[in-house]
Amino acid sequence: MITTDQTVQTFLDFFGERGHELTPGGTLIPSPADPVLFTTSGMHPLTPYLMGRPHPLGRRLTGSQRCLRTTDLDEVGDDTHLTVFEMLGSWSLGDYGGSRSLRWGFELLRDGFGIDPGRMHVTVFGGDDHVEPDHESWRTWEELGVPVEPTTDENWWDNGPTGLCGPDSEIFVWTGDELPRGTPTSEERWVEVWNHVMMRYVRHPDGSLEPMRQPCIDTGMGLERLVRILQNTQSVFEIDILRPWLSTLSRIWGPLDERSLRLLSDHLRSSIVVLGDRVTPSPSGRGHILRRLIRRTLTTLWRDDPTRTLLDLPIELVDHTLGHFRQSVPSRDVRTLLLAEERKFDLLLQRGRKVLSHRRFSGPLTGDDYHYLHDTHGLPRDLVVYLTTDAER
Ligand code: SER
Repeated sequence: MITTDQTVQTFLDFFGERGHELTPGGTLIPSPADPVLFTTSGMHPLTPYLMGRPHPLGRRLTGSQRCLRTTDLDEVGDDTHLTVFEMLGSWSLGDYGGSRSLRWGFELLRDGFGIDPGRMHVTVFGGDDHVEPDHESWRTWEELGVPVEPTTDENWWDNGPTGLCGPDSEIFVWTGDELPRGTPTSEERWVEVWNHVMMRYVRHPDGSLEPMRQPCIDTGMGLERLVRILQNTQSVFEIDILRPWLSTLSRIWGPLDERSLRLLSDHLRSSIVVLGDRVTPSPSGRGHILRRLIRRTLTTLWRDDPTRTLLDLPIELVDHTLGHFRQSVPSRDVRTLLLAEERKFDLLLQRGRKVLSHRRFSGPLTGDDYHYLHDTHGLPRDLVVYLTTDAER
């Protein structure tokens, strides 16, 4: 069975053999000019080069980039979502076009990873009032014999209201036990693995689309989702690099329901990676996201048993994660920061419980109560909600 590391290598070798240079990838922290807090996709660090600046490594690039997405936090615990994940990517900076990219994508999935084309389905941009359908991608897939579903919004990629954008084509693989059925938008066992974006336009603040002088191709493939398919596991949490998390956490903190176990594995692993990129918990910015992840971990952990503690987290899991992401921060420092945050949150909860035990807060809380608790006692609304629902249990 192919491992996660071998999957990365197979991908990078495939594009390397086709003239793509390896980008450094790595850190979750974007460059200072970038307005977002964390890198959210493989193309992120390449934005200036996709916009036209010459890249020192040339016009064909490939790489593996760790990413963090908190937009899907409530989905974590299902079969496919992770907060920190890796994205494999290939890029043509004004070099080859969409058809070339899709054909290579098909070849790699079929011959490199052994995925049966009968288990593939794709979606393409079917056109809207402003842009015509992506005929080139559509035709390419028809020539390759892969079923196509056209959509509108779901096959238009952008990075916000302005900037780079264009139609995309997504490749899905069937994960059901029986024969494939339905289409990607109608049947959730079609799992998206690879997105090929044809970056053809820049959107201006007035909403107009300007065709790019040098259109680019940006592809991104979620590594853990691909490995889930290659290792034929029920969810991303059972692939080789995540399995030790589930088995260890259920040993030290079990019994836990499956969803909580997955959430704890995801959030703790993500917190370690963020700490490994030298972010520390704080009330705002990146540190706040980290704090949220750690606190969600702790509230899940303490829900059934308040005596559970991160002190029991084996250092080997921290090492395993930092090692996988090639992060050089010592694991004991990461552990110390996690424990300090646990202590801080525990004290805050104790204080919160004391304040909330006052008669004034015995009935349903009003908007004014929430303001007062926040401004005078430093108790954020979500924490108060947690404590009041906790008290009712
Ligand atoms: N930018 C695209 C995505 O995030 C492909 O890399 O899906």
